[in-house]
Amino acid sequence: MSTQTASQSVTLNTLFARKRDGLRFAALTAYDALFADLISGAGIEVILVGDSLGMVLQGHDSTLPVTLKDMIYHMQCVRNGNRGALIMADLPFMSYASEQQSLESAAELMRAGAHVVKLEGGAWLAESTRLLTERGIPVCAHMGLTPQSINRLGGYRVQGRDPAQAHTIVEEALVLQDAGASILLLECVPVALGETVTQRLEIPVIGIGAGPCTDGQIMVMHDMLGITPPSIKVPKFVKNFMVESDGSIPGAFKAYAEAVRDGSFPAPEHCFE
Ligand code: KIV
Repeated sequence: MSTQTASQSVTLNTLFARKRDGLRFAALTAYDALFADLISGAGIEVILVGDSLGMVLQGHDSTLPVTLKDMIYHMQCVRNGNRGALIMADLPFMSYASEQQSLESAAELMRAGAHVVKLEGGAWLAESTRLLTERGIPVCAHMGLTPQSINRLGGYRVQGRDPAQAHTIVEEALVLQDAGASILLLECVPVALGETVTQRLEIPVIGIGAGPCTDGQIMVMHDMLGITPPSIKVPKFVKNFMVESDGSIPGAFKAYAEAVRDGSFPAPEHCFE
């Protein structure tokens, strides 16, 4: 592992500048120091300490069992390995059910080294987003497929297929931007909706299964390395970058970053029409 001192060279300004200049950026999940070192060393701009760790590390069938304590532990590990990426961390299920709770939980993640906290949901999060932002905690809103609501959604399905639902997603994304959100992560929506949201919002939009038009792309690291646990169905939007790298994990990270930047990923077979 690198002995370089951890420092942040990618900031929110970097992502806004890339959006302004029409330059795509890459993001990946990481949950420990070793992979944070490899991912940031490959020049990937954003690391997400995702609550997907509940599924890929802990063996659960959803993200719901993940606790704030789990997130803080993995956040600290990632901070120790990071070499300049912007680190986002998920607020886990039921750690932001009220505005006061969202402030207390987000503060814990920031103390552990997060640069941005991510919350799943739409307009109901406007007040929490405003509260956090005004107190110096940048927020990434997560819309579209929100895995913490899997029991209400009834499955891991494409969101925003019908025009009314698509309209709601666009309008609520604008509400969260107005409340101060700095980034939007959009999961599992049709290409046209991914494009509309990216065009309508001034803040950077990171897509996963949201088509090729978003400002950035993200994947769960285990998925793009081809090591998704066998109990999890690999989503259509996943591409295995190990098979087209030099066979090394750093090679796969570099191949992913290049494919995002040159627009070759996601290809039509990874998208929903
Ligand atoms: O937790 C996570 O890894 C996520 C991704 C699906 C983007 O939120």
